[in-house]
Amino acid sequence: MKFFIDTANLGQIREAQELGVLDGVTTNPSLMAKEGITGKNNILKHYVDICNIVEGDVSAEVISTDFDEMIKEGEALAELHDQIVVKIPMIKDGVKALKYFSDKGIRTNCTLVFSPGQALLAAKAGATYVSPFIGRLDDISTDGLNLIAEIRHIYDNYSFETQILAASVRHTMHVIDCAKLGADVMTGPLSSIEGLLRHPLTDSGLAKFLADYQKGN
Ligand code: G3P
Repeated sequence: MKFFIDTANLGQIREAQELGVLDGVTTNPSLMAKEGITGKNNILKHYVDICNIVEGDVSAEVISTDFDEMIKEGEALAELHDQIVVKIPMIKDGVKALKYFSDKGIRTNCTLVFSPGQALLAAKAGATYVSPFIGRLDDISTDGLNLIAEIRHIYDNYSFETQILAASVRHTMHVIDCAKLGADVMTGPLSSIEGLLRHPLTDSGLAKFLADYQKGN
Protein backbone atom coordinates (compact mmCIF):
# COMPACT_ATOMS: atom_id res chain seq x y z
CA MET A 1 0.00 0.00 0.00
CA LYS A 2 1.39 3.39 -0.99
CA PHE A 3 1.24 6.30 1.46
CA PHE A 4 0.65 9.77 0.03
CA ILE A 5 0.40 12.89 2.16
CA ASP A 6 -2.54 15.17 1.38
CA THR A 7 -1.15 18.67 1.90
CA ALA A 8 0.66 21.55 0.26
CA ASN A 9 2.59 22.30 3.46
CA LEU A 10 6.30 21.85 2.68
CA GLY A 11 7.26 21.36 6.34
CA GLN A 12 4.82 18.48 6.75
CA ILE A 13 5.86 16.97 3.42
CA ARG A 14 9.50 17.08 4.55
CA GLU A 15 8.60 15.50 7.90
CA ALA A 16 6.72 12.63 6.20
CA GLN A 17 9.56 12.16 3.70
CA GLU A 18 12.12 11.98 6.54
CA LEU A 19 10.08 9.22 8.20
CA GLY A 20 10.98 7.15 5.14
CA VAL A 21 7.55 5.78 4.34
CA LEU A 22 6.23 8.41 1.94
CA ASP A 23 5.36 7.43 -1.63
CA GLY A 24 3.90 10.70 -2.91
CA VAL A 25 1.83 13.83 -2.39
CA THR A 26 -1.66 14.93 -3.33
CA THR A 27 -2.77 18.54 -3.38
CA ASN A 28 -5.84 20.44 -4.48
CA PRO A 29 -6.70 24.13 -4.93
CA SER A 30 -8.10 24.33 -1.37
CA LEU A 31 -4.91 22.89 0.15
CA MET A 32 -2.81 25.37 -1.88
CA ALA A 33 -4.98 28.29 -0.70
CA LYS A 34 -4.65 27.06 2.91
CA GLU A 35 -0.86 27.52 2.63
CA GLY A 36 -1.32 30.98 1.08
CA ILE A 37 -0.07 29.80 -2.33
CA THR A 38 -2.01 31.83 -4.89
CA GLY A 39 -1.47 32.92 -8.49
CA LYS A 40 -0.60 30.59 -11.36
CA ASN A 41 3.18 31.07 -11.26
CA ASN A 42 3.45 30.59 -7.50
CA ILE A 43 1.32 27.46 -7.70
CA LEU A 44 3.45 25.97 -10.50
CA LYS A 45 6.64 26.78 -8.58
CA HIS A 46 5.17 25.15 -5.47
CA TYR A 47 4.55 21.91 -7.38
CA VAL A 48 8.21 21.85 -8.41
CA ASP A 49 9.27 22.54 -4.80
CA ILE A 50 7.17 19.56 -3.68
CA CYS A 51 8.68 17.33 -6.38
CA ASN A 52 12.14 18.29 -5.16
CA ILE A 53 11.32 17.07 -1.63
CA VAL A 54 9.68 13.72 -2.41
CA GLU A 55 10.67 10.87 -4.67
CA GLY A 56 7.17 9.72 -5.68
CA ASP A 57 4.12 10.95 -7.55
CA VAL A 58 2.80 14.46 -6.99
CA SER A 59 -0.80 15.14 -8.04
CA ALA A 60 -1.36 18.60 -9.54
CA GLU A 61 -4.96 19.58 -10.21
CA VAL A 62 -6.32 21.38 -13.28
CA ILE A 63 -8.76 24.17 -12.55
CA SER A 64 -10.40 24.23 -16.01
CA THR A 65 -13.67 22.41 -16.61
CA ASP A 66 -13.63 22.56 -20.40
CA PHE A 67 -11.90 19.77 -22.39
CA ASP A 68 -9.57 21.96 -24.48
CA GLU A 69 -8.52 24.04 -21.51
CA MET A 70 -7.98 20.94 -19.35
CA ILE A 71 -5.69 19.49 -22.00
CA LYS A 72 -3.67 22.70 -22.27
CA GLU A 73 -3.40 23.01 -18.50
CA GLY A 74 -2.69 19.31 -17.92
CA GLU A 75 0.05 19.21 -20.55
CA ALA A 76 1.74 22.23 -18.96
CA LEU A 77 1.52 20.59 -15.52
CA ALA A 78 2.95 17.31 -16.83
CA GLU A 79 5.87 19.17 -18.38
CA LEU A 80 6.80 20.76 -15.05
CA HIS A 81 8.39 17.60 -13.66
CA ASP A 82 8.31 13.87 -14.43
CA GLN A 83 6.82 13.15 -10.98
CA ILE A 84 3.67 15.14 -11.78
CA VAL A 85 0.37 13.28 -12.13
CA VAL A 86 -2.41 15.40 -13.66
CA LYS A 87 -5.46 15.55 -11.42
CA ILE A 88 -8.74 15.72 -13.33
CA PRO A 89 -12.25 16.12 -11.87
CA MET A 90 -14.92 13.47 -12.53
CA ILE A 91 -17.03 15.47 -14.98
CA LYS A 92 -17.92 14.74 -18.61
CA ASP A 93 -15.05 16.73 -20.12
CA GLY A 94 -12.83 15.26 -17.42
CA VAL A 95 -13.54 11.72 -18.62
CA LYS A 96 -12.62 12.77 -22.16
CA ALA A 97 -9.43 14.36 -20.81
CA LEU A 98 -8.54 11.17 -18.88
CA LYS A 99 -8.79 9.19 -22.10
CA TYR A 100 -6.74 11.78 -24.01
CA PHE A 101 -3.95 11.78 -21.42
CA SER A 102 -4.01 8.00 -21.10
CA ASP A 103 -3.54 7.65 -24.88
CA LYS A 104 -0.61 10.08 -24.67
CA GLY A 105 1.05 8.23 -21.77
CA ILE A 106 0.47 11.10 -19.31
CA ARG A 107 -0.46 9.84 -15.84
CA THR A 108 -3.72 11.00 -14.27
CA ASN A 109 -5.58 11.02 -10.97
CA CYS A 110 -9.36 11.22 -11.31
CA THR A 111 -10.62 13.25 -8.36
CA LEU A 112 -13.96 13.95 -6.66
CA VAL A 113 -15.19 10.38 -7.05
CA PHE A 114 -18.15 9.43 -4.86
CA SER A 115 -19.75 6.40 -6.54
CA PRO A 116 -18.80 3.01 -8.01
CA GLY A 117 -20.16 4.11 -11.40
CA GLN A 118 -17.81 7.10 -11.49
CA ALA A 119 -14.90 4.83 -10.58
CA LEU A 120 -15.82 2.39 -13.36
CA LEU A 121 -15.88 5.25 -15.86
CA ALA A 122 -12.48 6.53 -14.66
CA ALA A 123 -10.96 3.06 -15.13
CA LYS A 124 -12.51 2.68 -18.59
CA ALA A 125 -11.01 6.05 -19.54
CA GLY A 126 -7.56 4.81 -18.44
CA ALA A 127 -7.00 6.85 -15.27
CA THR A 128 -3.79 5.93 -13.45
CA TYR A 129 -5.41 6.64 -10.07
CA VAL A 130 -9.02 7.03 -8.98
CA SER A 131 -9.67 9.09 -5.85
CA PRO A 132 -12.80 8.15 -3.90
CA PHE A 133 -13.34 10.74 -1.11
CA ILE A 134 -14.19 8.60 1.89
CA GLY A 135 -14.23 11.30 4.60
CA ARG A 136 -16.66 13.48 2.70
CA LEU A 137 -19.02 10.51 2.29
CA ASP A 138 -18.78 9.80 6.02
CA ASP A 139 -19.62 13.50 6.58
CA ILE A 140 -23.02 12.99 4.95
CA SER A 141 -23.82 9.71 6.78
CA THR A 142 -22.78 7.48 3.86
CA ASP A 143 -20.22 4.73 4.40
CA GLY A 144 -17.05 5.92 2.64
CA LEU A 145 -15.22 2.65 3.29
CA ASN A 146 -17.99 0.70 1.58
CA LEU A 147 -17.19 2.65 -1.59
CA ILE A 148 -13.58 1.44 -1.41
CA ALA A 149 -14.82 -2.16 -1.10
CA GLU A 150 -17.20 -1.75 -4.06
CA ILE A 151 -14.53 -0.26 -6.31
CA ARG A 152 -12.02 -2.97 -5.30
CA HIS A 153 -14.61 -5.63 -6.23
CA ILE A 154 -15.38 -4.06 -9.62
CA TYR A 155 -11.73 -3.46 -10.54
CA ASP A 156 -10.76 -7.01 -9.55
CA ASN A 157 -13.60 -8.46 -11.66
CA TYR A 158 -12.04 -6.98 -14.78
CA SER A 159 -8.39 -6.64 -13.75
CA PHE A 160 -8.47 -2.87 -14.27
CA GLU A 161 -5.03 -1.40 -13.68
CA THR A 162 -6.33 1.92 -12.29
CA GLN A 163 -5.07 2.23 -8.72
CA ILE A 164 -7.55 2.96 -5.95
CA LEU A 165 -6.29 6.03 -4.11
CA ALA A 166 -8.41 6.36 -0.97
CA ALA A 167 -8.70 10.14 -0.51
CA SER A 168 -10.25 12.44 2.05
CA VAL A 169 -8.73 10.10 4.65
CA ARG A 170 -9.11 11.91 7.95
CA HIS A 171 -7.56 9.65 10.61
CA THR A 172 -5.53 6.55 11.37
CA MET A 173 -8.46 4.09 11.45
CA HIS A 174 -9.34 5.15 7.89
CA VAL A 175 -5.79 4.15 6.89
CA ILE A 176 -6.05 0.74 8.57
CA ASP A 177 -9.51 0.03 7.16
CA CYS A 178 -8.40 1.04 3.65
CA ALA A 179 -5.44 -1.34 3.97
CA LYS A 180 -7.79 -4.17 5.01
CA LEU A 181 -10.00 -3.47 2.00
CA GLY A 182 -7.09 -3.49 -0.44
CA ALA A 183 -6.87 0.17 -1.45
CA ASP A 184 -3.67 0.57 -3.48
CA VAL A 185 -2.89 3.99 -2.01
CA MET A 186 -4.16 6.21 0.75
CA THR A 187 -3.71 9.96 1.01
CA GLY A 188 -4.22 11.68 4.32
CA PRO A 189 -2.83 14.28 6.71
CA LEU A 190 0.51 13.70 8.49
CA SER A 191 -1.42 12.92 11.68
CA SER A 192 -3.12 9.92 10.02
CA ILE A 193 0.31 8.43 9.24
CA GLU A 194 1.93 9.28 12.58
CA GLY A 195 -1.06 7.81 14.44
CA LEU A 196 -0.03 4.38 13.15
CA LEU A 197 3.10 4.32 15.28
CA ARG A 198 1.55 5.11 18.64
CA HIS A 199 0.63 2.55 21.30
CA PRO A 200 0.65 3.11 25.09
CA LEU A 201 2.12 -0.37 25.67
CA THR A 202 5.04 0.53 23.41
CA ASP A 203 5.68 3.66 25.49
CA SER A 204 5.34 1.96 28.89
CA GLY A 205 7.32 -1.08 27.69
CA LEU A 206 10.16 1.11 26.46
CA ALA A 207 10.15 3.16 29.69
CA LYS A 208 10.52 -0.08 31.69
CA PHE A 209 13.31 -1.46 29.48
CA LEU A 210 15.26 1.78 29.85
CA ALA A 211 14.67 1.96 33.64
CA ASP A 212 15.81 -1.68 34.07
CA TYR A 213 18.93 -1.00 32.02
CA GLN A 214 19.75 1.97 34.26
CA LYS A 215 19.36 -0.24 37.40
CA GLY A 216 21.96 -2.69 36.12
CA ASN A 217 24.50 0.01 35.14
O1 G3P B 1 -7.62 13.98 -0.97
C1 G3P B 1 -8.81 14.69 -1.04
C2 G3P B 1 -8.82 15.68 0.03
O2 G3P B 1 -7.93 16.72 -0.22
C3 G3P B 1 -10.13 16.11 0.50
O3 G3P B 1 -10.03 15.93 1.85
O4 G3P B 1 -10.57 16.31 4.16
O5 G3P B 1 -11.10 18.07 2.42
O6 G3P B 1 -12.40 15.95 2.54
P1 G3P B 1 -11.08 16.61 2.79
